[in-house]
Amino acid sequence: MTGVRVLSRSAAIIACLSTAMMLALAASAQPAGPSGNAAAEPFVPEIGEIMMFQQLRHGKLWFAGESSNWPLAEYEVKELREGFESVAKYYPTFNNVPLAQMIDAIRDSNFAELDKAVAAHDRRQFTRAFDGLTQACNACHQANELAFIVIQRPSVPPFSNQAFAPRK
Ligand code: HEC
Repeated sequence: MTGVRVLSRSAAIIACLSTAMMLALAASAQPAGPSGNAAAEPFVPEIGEIMMFQQLRHGKLWFAGESSNWPLAEYEVKELREGFESVAKYYPTFNNVPLAQMIDAIRDSNFAELDKAVAAHDRRQFTRAFDGLTQACNACHQANELAFIVIQRPSVPPFSNQAFAPRK
């Protein structure tokens, strides 16, 4: 009985989630309505929201590399890259700062180095590439008069419910 109840409860949750997803998809598929019709406008995340995710991924990437968990490091590099692609897509310029151009440069230098280090499973190379990325984070914050947002190597993992060591 309990099993059935548990099952139907998760089915209800899945149904809710898929309805929410369908609504979100429908909203994003709709063309922007006449001005004033906010409900029909597609959802675009704020830069600050994307950055909060970037901050988490930056932290996870560090512990993935530190633990020589290269598949996880590769995954976090991909997620970070996608996060910056969203910034470039939605905010090519922000307060007259050419974000998309800066992100292109980061892709060609810092991400290229991270890719190489991760592919080579090389911790030293990884550390250097990671620090390079961190500097690029701060360079962009400085260019945006946000020098007070200082990113650094993390000292503790962002979450205790995720294991960073590679699976045996
Ligand atoms: C191309 C420019 C650019 C790059 C690169 C960049 N940021 Fe940002 N970041 C911004 C801007 C612009 C804001 C301010 C957004 C706002 O005011 O809504 C910001 C804000 C932030 C914030 C503050 C969010 C908050 O609410 O506390 C954090 C944290 C952050 N960035 C982390 C990072 C990390 C980590 C990296 C590197 C992996 C990074 N950023 C790289 C442009 C950038």
